[in-house]
Order: sequence, then C-alpha cells, then structure tokens
Amino acid sequence: MNVLVIGGGGREHAIIQKLHSSPRIKRLFALPGNGGIAGCAENLAGSPLDGALAVRYCAEHQIGFAVVAPDDPLVKGVADDLRAAGIPVFGPSAQAAAIEGSKIFAKQLMKKYGIPTAAFEIFDDAGAALSYLKNAPFPAVIKADGLALGKGVIIANDYDEAAGAVQRMMVDKAFGESGSSILIEEFLSGPEVTVLAFTDSKTILPLASSMDHKRAFDGDKGPNTGGMGVIAPNPFYTADIAALCREKIFLPTIQALAAEGRPFKGCLYFGLMLTPPPGGGAIEPKVIEYNCRFGDPEAQTVLPLLETDLFDIMCAVEEERLSEIDLRQKKAAACTVMLCSRGYPEKYETGFPVSGLDTALDVDTFIFHSGTKIKNGRLVTAGGRVLGVTAVRDTLQTAVNAAYTAAEKVHFENCYFRGDIGAAALQVETL
Ligand code: AMP
Ligand code: GLY
Repeated sequence: MNVLVIGGGGREHAIIQKLHSSPRIKRLFALPGNGGIAGCAENLAGSPLDGALAVRYCAEHQIGFAVVAPDDPLVKGVADDLRAAGIPVFGPSAQAAAIEGSKIFAKQLMKKYGIPTAAFEIFDDAGAALSYLKNAPFPAVIKADGLALGKGVIIANDYDEAAGAVQRMMVDKAFGESGSSILIEEFLSGPEVTVLAFTDSKTILPLASSMDHKRAFDGDKGPNTGGMGVIAPNPFYTADIAALCREKIFLPTIQALAAEGRPFKGCLYFGLMLTPPPGGGAIEPKVIEYNCRFGDPEAQTVLPLLETDLFDIMCAVEEERLSEIDLRQKKAAACTVMLCSRGYPEKYETGFPVSGLDTALDVDTFIFHSGTKIKNGRLVTAGGRVLGVTAVRDTLQTAVNAAYTAAEKVHFENCYFRGDIGAAALQVETL
C-alpha cells in the first residue's frame, strides 16, 4: 500500500522512519516533508492544511492510507476531508481534536467527567478577567483558548504580569482569535510527564512515558519552546502512578470524548503534573494539557523504542480493533537532544550547510530532521529546531551520553543545544 504522512518536522520524520520498515508499505509520501524526510519518502509540495490537495494527491499516487500528524490540520478537519473521500486515516476528527484546539473545551470536559486537573475560571471579557485577577492567588496561569504555536501559556507571578498577558491575548490579539477567550488556572507544581497513547476510542495503549525540556536554556531558564530535548522513560512515572493515571485519567478521557459524540481515534497526548498533595501523602496526577497528536520532540524519543509495527497499530486504530494489538516496546532508555538555530524560539538565521550526520549515526542512534531542506543539492538549516539526535541505550545515563556524543559530531553555523537534557531525571533514575 502507498501511505501519505501530512507534516514536515522531526515528529513526522520519526513516524516515517518507523513506517519505512513496515513490510506492508510500498511507497511513502510526505506533505510537505523536509530535507531529511526526502531520504525515506517522496516529498509532495503544498500546505499540510489543504485537505483538498491531500485528497488529490491520494488519487494521483494511489495512496490508500494517510497519517495526519500536526495539530493545526487535525483541528482544521483535514482527517475528516480524507475520510469523506474514502481514505482511511490515522488521526482524530476535528470534533475530537477540539481537545487540543480549545483549552476551554478540554477543561469543561474534565470538569464534567471528574478528571483531575488544575482549578480554573473562563473569561471572554478582558475587564472581568482583570477584576478576577485583583484577588487571585499567584502565581496564576493564563492560557489562550485556541492554538497559539506553543506560546499561549503565561505563568504570571503577580498582578502586573497577569494583566500584561490578558492585554496581549484579549486586547492586542497577539494570537488572533485564539485569545478571544482565556482560562485563568491554578498553578500546579511537581514533575511533569508526557504520555503518548494510541486509542481507537475504546482501548488505550500508552507508549513509554517521557519528560520534555521546554525552556530554551539550561536549568529550565529562558523562554518556552516547542521542546529542547526529551528522555524516556520518565523515572518519576512509576508503575503505581501509571496504573492510577490509567484508571483516573486515560480511560475516563476516551470514555468522556465518546460520550460527547466525539470518539477519538489516533494518538492522544497527556501532559501530566505529578502534584504532591499540600499536606503530604500520595501523588495526585493531574492533567496539564491534552494534545490531539504525537508530541514533538517526544515522538522522536519514544517511537524508536517501539517494536510493534507502527503501520499495523495505525490501521488497528482506524478500524477500531486496537484491542487486538500486542504493543511491544524495547526495555531500554532513550534521549533526544534538539540541535537548534541560535536565537530560537525568537529571532534566528537559517540557510547554513549541515555536516557530520554520517559520522554521528549508528545502529541505535537516530537523527530526525525538524527544520532542514535541500538547497542546490546541499542539506541546509531551515528552522529554529533543526535536528533531533536520539540515542537508545540500556540505561538512561548511557543514552544521554551517547546522544551528546553524537550531537557533538554534527555541525552547522550557530548551532545551539541545551547541555542538561536528562539531568533532572538522572537524579531519580531507577533503571
Ligand atoms: P502547555 O502549552 O499547555 O503545554 O503549557 C506549557 C507549560 O506551561 C507546561 O508544560 C507547564 O510547564 C506549564 N503549565 C501549564 N499549565 C500549568 C499549571 N496549571 N500550573 C503550572 N504550570 C503549568
Ligand atoms: N513537546 C510538546 C508538544 O509536542 O506539544
């Protein structure tokens, strides 16, 4: 069968590399793909948001299955466009993708179905938000309702910071209509965990847990980014906590979406905070956010640990027979270090030649391309996040060491990466 993957970042490269080893796939296409994806799929020109174009490409290239990987085409309904044209898809409908597309929808769903999350208030009027903030506890978390390129969450330490965020989101419309309504949330503390899980809306199969490193600089300093590096599994996420999350969060979430007439088929991303209760006692995991897709870079870290054929899983999700799948994963650890353009997530330059990839690779070290392209026959940088270097090893310490050894072998001008990916996890490492 021929398969199309919509998207063009490191997550899509990790998905495509897995699909590449599936014996049932004949040709792989990417819309639009990137410079690294070009090595294992045929890149198709155009926007990933253009559902009609994706349908046309499917007809033109006899494509029998599509994977919609990024959030914005899912929220816009590209999976629905493909299904309406008779093409099976891995990825939720727009109705189900609202769990990421509207943070207010997600919070109301959690409240209605008793899924643990931070306390919150909803505002669609800046004046009302400001008067609430006058007596609110700080820090407070201000969130734009809609998609905001990962920049729609502000942790405000005092009234002035919070009021500034309300002004930017609701009045200056820094994120367009995404900020017309906002949430003001209770600040939670504790280690964060990402769990990516396959679901066909009845069965849910979680992949290895992981820990993203969202801030730009070492020591969790600097601005929030899309993710600077990831380790898996997350040592804070013990077997007991996993069982608790399954019972209190994962199953209730897919059941809630199904009960609302929005069955979710695809990969559901649980961003969790392992919050210690105020008076001590057992950890109470709470949902910080849902995403309607694989995380990026998390997918670059946990997919290399997957042993079961990814295409078999994706077909089982679409055909609602995920209960038949035996999900096998390597009993190993993985570390991904993101090599970025200096200045990311703010201003940065691109177009620099990339070298050293061949010397960095080995059988358990992978390089996924996030922002590269081929220009005049040469691989050059084309984004803020450029490459994800992932090492899979027996222990977290050796995975971290191997990822950094490989990262040092890759060169491009203005390359920047964090030096402490995995440092916090190594302090509690239990492998
Ligand atoms: P999000 O874009 O929803 O992933 O939020 C970005 C980051 O903000 C999360 O990864 C958390 O580190 C932080 N965050 C979001 N909500 C809260 C909260 N209620 N309390 C503390 N931190 C939060
Ligand atoms: N790495 C965070 C995300 O994919 O949303």
